Amino acid sequence: MSLTFRVACNQKGPVTMTHIVEITDLRKSYKGGFQALKGVTLGIEQGEILALLGPNGAGKTTLISTICGITMPTSGSVTVAGHDILTDYRAARSMIGLVPQEINLEPFERVVNTVRFSRGLFGKPSDDAALEKVLRQLSLWDKKDSQIRELSGGMKRRVLIAKALAHDPRVLFLDEPSAGVDVELRKDMWEIVRKLKDDGVTIILTTHYIEEAEAIADRVGIIADGELLLVEEKTKLMARMGQKELEVQLTERLSEVPANLRSGALTLSRDGCALIYTYDTTSRRISPSAAMLARSLVMPVRSALVSYV
Ligand SMILES: Nc1ncnc2c1ncn2[C@@H]1O[C@H](COP(=O)(O)OP(=O)(O)OP(=O)(O)O)[C@@H](O)[C@H]1O
Ligand SMILES: [Mg+2]
Repeated sequence: MSLTFRVACNQKGPVTMTHIVEITDLRKSYKGGFQALKGVTLGIEQGEILALLGPNGAGKTTLISTICGITMPTSGSVTVAGHDILTDYRAARSMIGLVPQEINLEPFERVVNTVRFSRGLFGKPSDDAALEKVLRQLSLWDKKDSQIRELSGGMKRRVLIAKALAHDPRVLFLDEPSAGVDVELRKDMWEIVRKLKDDGVTIILTTHYIEEAEAIADRVGIIADGELLLVEEKTKLMARMGQKELEVQLTERLSEVPANLRSGALTLSRDGCALIYTYDTTSRRISPSAAMLARSLVMPVRSALVSYV
């Protein structure tokens, strides 16, 4: 299943002094003039979990990379706990941990050394107790002497988080922590994120999965085509976007909804190539899955798509 983003709104997070990260009119044009960020203004509250949701190429990684000092902004400003990311970059970066989208670990290095090295990069003195705390927090303590290449994909992702936390940052950026991980691991990741929030860490994560934002975020920002379209408290957003559509694409055209599926909630698309089921996300009724609909059909199904309407 995939998602479509049909939200269009110009509401942006008001910038106040309580924000740990202040982003003001941030723009980024890459070489050749491509505008990846078109004036993003956003205030991130201390201790919140903010999910940035958006399709491929929306500008999520560019936004995070710019805040973390990996990508140079073209214009605009960012401060982290009052420190400007350009003029006061050492102080700003010391507050930040980044879990990158790609796994980029040295395969022959041991877990404990990898994490220790990350702490050293920030000029922090070696601290075995802090190291143990981070590794235990991420259930990596029993793997501390393993080489990275001996770990599963999910464990490698946890090492990335441990590295990002090694210097005790107050703001953690997770760039698609759930990409390519199974449902169980995704839930583990959510648990880790919740515990970090309990420890007072502010968390910004990017995701393609609205379910992920729904599960853990306090606020959700929707970014598309370099613009922040909306930032809103999750509960308010979910209430406002309470209707979901399940669109089942058919391999053959229908002229009408099959008799066995006739109900007010199911309609046929104008071209007859898709069945659309509209349901309320706040309803306690169990919504039909694509598989269930497919089983009820006499025709093969090409794909299914869920979107908020
Ligand atoms: N170094 C670069 N040089 C030129 N263009 C770039 C560069 N990095 C990113 N872009 C472009 O900027 C746009 C935003 O990319 P970005 O990686 O920020 O998107 P994203 O929202 O993180 O996407 P995804 O969900 O696929 O990770 C894309 O069109 C991308 O091709
Ligand atoms: Mg990205």
